[in-house]
Formats: sequence, structure tokens, C-alpha cells
Amino acid sequence: MKLPPQRGPVSAELIDLLRTFAPENDQTACDDRLVVPLESEDILFSDDLQLSLFVLYELHYRGFDEVDERWEWNPQLLALRARIEEQFERKLREIAMDVSYVPGDAQAVAQQLFTLANDDGGPSVSNFIAREATLEQAQEFLIHKSIYQLKEADPHSWAIPRLNGRGKSALMEIQFDEYGAGRPGAMHSELFALTMRGLELDAEFGAYIDRLPAITLASVNMMSLFGLHRRLRGCIAGHLAIYEMTSSIPNARYARGFRRLGFDTPVTDYFDEHVEADAVHEQIAGRDLAGGLIEYDPTIATEVFFGAQAACAVDALVGEHQLTAWRSGKSSLRTATERMPA
Ligand SMILES: [Fe+2]
Ligand SMILES: [Fe+2]
Repeated sequence: MKLPPQRGPVSAELIDLLRTFAPENDQTACDDRLVVPLESEDILFSDDLQLSLFVLYELHYRGFDEVDERWEWNPQLLALRARIEEQFERKLREIAMDVSYVPGDAQAVAQQLFTLANDDGGPSVSNFIAREATLEQAQEFLIHKSIYQLKEADPHSWAIPRLNGRGKSALMEIQFDEYGAGRPGAMHSELFALTMRGLELDAEFGAYIDRLPAITLASVNMMSLFGLHRRLRGCIAGHLAIYEMTSSIPNARYARGFRRLGFDTPVTDYFDEHVEADAVHEQIAGRDLAGGLIEYDPTIATEVFFGAQAACAVDALVGEHQLTAWRSGKSSLRTATERMPA
């Protein structure tokens, strides 16, 4: 993908540095520039900081066309990332509800996660898509999702070498399906690209980055934060578990919505696949992944539940952002004015 336009002082310094310099001979340029203060009232809604974090994380995934790959492990960039992450993680811990986990076996863990999944009283984007979204709103919905779904499952794969036993086997079983179970073209990310193209959208990863509001970037940055730190391995497992456990029913509604708008296979394949796959995954995710992990190491339980709670809380904010815009007849994406360079 191409480097996105900046959204404020931090992302301006960062993006300019990545675009202009190579890492080894310009250490001093880097030292001087990345000490910009991080100011934000609410980091979840800070365009500048969420975009900076997204860019820093993306160096660990597929990088940017014009950026030297050696930046990935540059100490100054990692230091900047750590400063933003510190604020971000603190905020996530604030907004996640209190974790009232009652110790038990794997089945009891699954039961508590199912309760959390069912209690998720967040705004229902899936009902809106099923019943009333216009074609433009359906396109916007796909654009928001594209920043994760076009690399679906990748952030959770960081957890693989960090887990053991039953939890690890469960993670592999889920990821195997997410990556298409060995069938070329069947990765969920590829099915999602078909859905996008069916609605005449650009399915290249990051094509719409400039249109995405901070809160959408925060939802995918949260996965990278949890995935890239071994100490947060419980959080990434909890995040995946709750994602799988809150997927089957909404995906059935999305499929219904896209059919209502006149689409069918291959546009609806992505959603149909998730109705089926996640009815199985939700059991594996709750009992074997989260439950197995906690049985193996009970001290990780609160982190698993925090990851799940944070996922629900941030995704509720993304949904609220979309529905508030759509219900007042506005776009949920960044407008041309918001995208003007600061
Ligand atoms: Fe999937
Ligand atoms: Fe799944």
C-alpha cells in the first residue's frame, strides 16, 4: 500500500521521515523529529495518533511501497510506538467493563464468554444493513471493514508461537479455516475482496485509508497491540474468541441486507461462509481457545476477558459512529474537508 496522507503533527513527522530517509544513515534526523509531544483528548478518536499507530504497525505486516523495510525494527520508531501504545492501552483498560470472571473449567469460561457476547448491547449495524441501508451505506460499511477484513486473521496469527497446548490447537483450527483451509482463493480476506469488487470498490489493502475515521483505525490497531506483545497474548485470544462468538448471527443479517440490495453470490459468499464457519468456530473459540488457555494458565484469565471486553467496547463505538452518521443522512467516512492537509 501507499503511505497515507498525514493527519496532524505526529503523523506528519512520521510519514515524512519514512518517505524521505533510509534508516541507517539518518539516525540523527530521526532522533530530532520523533520527540513530538503526543497530545490527544481521547486517543480513540485522535486521527493523528491512530493513523501514526496504524502506520507503525503496518511496518510489521506488509509495509508500504515506498518505505525501506529496515524501518521495521528501528529503535526510534519502536520508542514512538511504545509512547502511543501506553496511552492507547490505558484508554482501552478504562473503557472495558469490569471483568467479573468466575474461575471454572473450559466449559465455564465458554459460558461466561457467551453471556458477554449475548449482553453486548452495542448498536446493531447488522440490523441496519439487513433492513434499511442504501447501496452507498453498504459500500461505506465494506470500506470500514476493509482495513481489517482484507488482512483477516493476520493479527491473531501473532499469537501462535506464544500459546501452548489445547488453546494453541484451537487457534490453529480456527486460523486454518480463516486462511481458506488450503484452498487457493478461499481465504476469508479473498472472499471479502470479491464482495468489495462486486460493489465496484477497490479491494487493494489500504485503498481507502484516508477515508477511515480514527475509531475504525483504533479497532484494528487494538488487534495489532494485543497481537504484537507477548504479555498481551491473553488479550488477543480473548479478542478472537469474542469475535468468533459474535459473528454468525450478524453475518446472516449482512447477507440478508446485501441480497435485499440485489446482490448474490459471489458478493454474499463472504457473509454466508461466516454464518456456517463461525457457528463451529464459536464453540472452539470459547471452550478450547479461551477455556483451554485459562485451564493451562489460570493467571491469564483476566487478560482474556479484558481482550474480549475491549473488542466489544471499541466495536460498539465504531457501530455508534456509523449509525449516528447514517441516521442523520451523513457519510460515516471522512469528508473532503477533514482530509485537507492540516
Ligand atoms: Fe473469517
Ligand atoms: Fe471465524
